[in-house]
Amino acid sequence: DRELFVSAPGKVILHGEHAVVHGKMALAVGLNLRTFIRIRPCKDDTVLINLPNIGTKLSWDVSQLQSLLPSFQDDPQNMEILKNFAGLTDGCKDTESLAVLAFLYLYLSIFGRDLPSVDVVVWSQLPTGAGLGSSAAYCVCLAAAMLTYCGRIADPMREEAKTSRWSQTELDLINQWAFQGEKVIHGNPSGVDNAVGTWGGALQYQSGRITPIERVPMLHILLTNTKVPRSTKVLVAGVKEKLLKFPDIIEPVLSSIHAISQECQRVLKEMTAGLSMDHYSVLEELIDINQHHLNVIGVGHPSLNTICRVTAERGLHSKLTGAGGGGCAVTLLRPDTDHTVVEAVKQELTDCGFQCWETSIGALG
Ligand code: MEV
Repeated sequence: DRELFVSAPGKVILHGEHAVVHGKMALAVGLNLRTFIRIRPCKDDTVLINLPNIGTKLSWDVSQLQSLLPSFQDDPQNMEILKNFAGLTDGCKDTESLAVLAFLYLYLSIFGRDLPSVDVVVWSQLPTGAGLGSSAAYCVCLAAAMLTYCGRIADPMREEAKTSRWSQTELDLINQWAFQGEKVIHGNPSGVDNAVGTWGGALQYQSGRITPIERVPMLHILLTNTKVPRSTKVLVAGVKEKLLKFPDIIEPVLSSIHAISQECQRVLKEMTAGLSMDHYSVLEELIDINQHHLNVIGVGHPSLNTICRVTAERGLHSKLTGAGGGGCAVTLLRPDTDHTVVEAVKQELTDCGFQCWETSIGALG
């Protein structure tokens, strides 16, 4: 009967964006900007969902939801049933509509016949639509909280629990349901975002295969959102066009990005083994090389060049993360990077109209 709290991290792609579309490897890592959920029983046979970041507060009678159940269970993939129920218009693609649809989908699917009265609030440190896996973190939180609430997975915080972590089987189940939620929101996602949200740390992703990487160090970063809107679809299509036009020129670039991901993974492993080498210099070089490659394949943007210039002037190294063409960039901070340097860089980037977060990657799931 008590309330449950769960949180899940966002994600950034460290290396391998775009190349991954062409069968190469990408390295995705947990971002220590998180989404949080609280679920608790609600009085009056009501289901309450409160999403303060997007100003959404909705409630339904459990009996209303109960009457929806037969038609939903007959055809769970038919979103029209949920859209009609929630009074959402046909082409609803906005953040609020998609969040409500994913909530209803997971609530009805996970609880099934025993729909409980619950009061759910989800809040986040992640911006939406910036390629940082905010929808996946949302779905991971919903799935984990609901599965625990109905007892399909154990509550790791219960007093008699021997460990405060979910087992691999339980995490698999959370991930599967979070993936279903992501499909409601994105149609045909790769599954890497929900996997990072579930397991955290770092993952290798290649040709649809997701392999968690055992241990990764927590690296400090500056994450900058240029706020320049872009279409992932258009950028991905642009790379494909270049590859078809100049296969002998572009394919080696994609292969080199693959090699960068591999080298980065090797360095991260060495870092966790505590070997004393200047790993940061290697990570910085890899960032610089990949940023040049990403410009070569046409996914750079003047706003991203500005970030690279401003940070380079203070001895820091940056690359775009995700689709590029605007969106976000990640800047590596060394353990000994002077705080005044970071503050000065943040100020300069904020003056450019960008939004910055000083945070870390390798965050726990
Ligand atoms: C976008 O976050 C990453 C891309 O590689 C696209 C994709 O993998 O689907 C650009």
